[in-house]
Amino acid sequence: MIIRDYRVNDETGWVRCRTLAFLQTAYFDNVLNKKEYYKNPAIELVAELDGQIVGLIDVEYEKEERTVCSRGEGLGGMIWHIAVHPDYSRQGIGQQLLHAAETKAKRMNLNRFEAWTRDDLWVQNWYGKMEFKIVDSYYHVYFEGNEMNHKIQSNTPNLYLVNAFTHYVGRDIDQFKNNKRVHQCVCFEKSF
Ligand SMILES: CC(C)(COP(=O)(O)OP(=O)(O)OC[C@H]1O[C@@H](n2cnc3c(N)ncnc32)[C@H](O)[C@@H]1OP(=O)(O)O)[C@@H](O)C(=O)NCCC(=O)NCCS
Repeated sequence: MIIRDYRVNDETGWVRCRTLAFLQTAYFDNVLNKKEYYKNPAIELVAELDGQIVGLIDVEYEKEERTVCSRGEGLGGMIWHIAVHPDYSRQGIGQQLLHAAETKAKRMNLNRFEAWTRDDLWVQNWYGKMEFKIVDSYYHVYFEGNEMNHKIQSNTPNLYLVNAFTHYVGRDIDQFKNNKRVHQCVCFEKSF
């Protein structure tokens, strides 16, 4: 297994690896059919084994304070994607990708990584093992069918909302206890 910079012709492998990894998480329907690119520079690494992409990490980073990260001081990097193909999980690939990205980040004088993830305890435990700390959270609330009642409405005549994905940053999360899909979205941070 080698860890190396992402190349343009890795795109199909990158998309497949990410899709399979996210399928087993609360982001199961967050499917991309193309690699994401960033406004700011990014550390983009893949883990390759026998010609197959088995892991990936994308970290968009700051040249100017607070242009990418949501909090903190100094220059930081945001982990937008980290994923390991499920057939190769728990073999240290995620950790090696993170450490390789950290080595590059330190050379660029970044002082931290930020990452957001949903309420998959095993993923949160992985961030914990990698020495990230929870620093913030809010909620992702989905509305479908009857859940829309009066809470979410269209102001446009003849336009009817069928479902909605929302961010809830308040404290009264109990009001959504009958919604089928509510996720806590957690911010992790690691200082170098
Ligand atoms: C989180 C992730 C990147 C970890 O990569 P990895 O190479 O499997 O993990 P590592 O080998 O570095 O670390 C292993 C540890 O991760 C956790 N872990 C990984 N996969 C797990 C699983 N399927 N079930 C439970 N714990 C798991 C465990 O704590 C494990 O330690 P253990 O085997 O001693 O119990 C990978 O599992 C993944 O792609 N997850 C889905 C995508 C995702 O949620 N990404 C983060 C949000 S952007």
